[in-house]
Amino acid sequence: MTLRSSIKKHTPWPLHYLYRKLYYAPKDIPAALGFVCHSTKSPTTLWQRLSLVRSFYSITYHVESPHTEHELITIARRILNLGLGVPGTIVEAGAFHGGSTAKLSLVAKLCGRTLDVFDSFEGMPENDEVHGKSIFGREHHFPKGSHAVGLDEVKENVSRYGDISRCRFHKGFFSETMPGFKEPVALACINADLVQSTKDVLHALYPLMTKGGIIYSQDAHFPWIIDLLKDDGFWRDEIGVEKPPMEGLGHLKFVAILR
Ligand SMILES: C[S@@+](CC[C@H](N)C(=O)[O-])C[C@H]1O[C@@H](n2cnc3c(N)ncnc32)[C@H](O)[C@@H]1O
Repeated sequence: MTLRSSIKKHTPWPLHYLYRKLYYAPKDIPAALGFVCHSTKSPTTLWQRLSLVRSFYSITYHVESPHTEHELITIARRILNLGLGVPGTIVEAGAFHGGSTAKLSLVAKLCGRTLDVFDSFEGMPENDEVHGKSIFGREHHFPKGSHAVGLDEVKENVSRYGDISRCRFHKGFFSETMPGFKEPVALACINADLVQSTKDVLHALYPLMTKGGIIYSQDAHFPWIIDLLKDDGFWRDEIGVEKPPMEGLGHLKFVAILR
């Protein structure tokens, strides 16, 4: 058992939360300060940016969230800097308990956009993918049904901590729900762990991306996702474009795919 999983198992949540916040502070604090101290293209006040960061920390405390603050703060900053020249909705593919959904809904409110949330709300689909260690050395496995959290619980969390009036929920596996979605997309977050799920989302969403838009993969610490994103053949033969420019591939957990 690693130090991290041992701490998680044996310490009460407030202490474990504190441990996580201290562990990630070297990345989270500069991201938070950079966000709070700089204006954004979608007009926000210093107070609104400060409250958003405070809400992010509070949501992580109350809702189990497998992402870091600097990840979501970076994405929030990017959304608020898209500006009017990049119209479209924000898409989240993979909600889990709705922690990231609640955060993104608050960002959507600040810039007057809609948040389209896609998830099976039954966890991972059937798959025979072989997983293992992330680039940071932790083991990960995603059998059918893992990460299952029902739609009612997600809605409750978003109502309590976010702004549910900004959200549209699309329940079902991506392969079923995404092909019918035809709206322009300004920014999408894929956090779905599986190669097949990531492929299903890229197939459906890449053609919908507005010029200047961004797709974030929050799974880019998994070698199987890095291999997919690096694969020229996948982009050319399955998506029908040359491999797009990407920021952070191979060394960050979250990678920006640019359109
Ligand atoms: C890691 S969790 C998302 C974490 C969340 N974004 C957060 O930061 O709190 C992955 C989610 O992807 C969903 N998922 C994975 N593959 C899917 C698919 N093919 N169709 C629908 N949902 C899928 C799972 O149900 C799960 O809720």
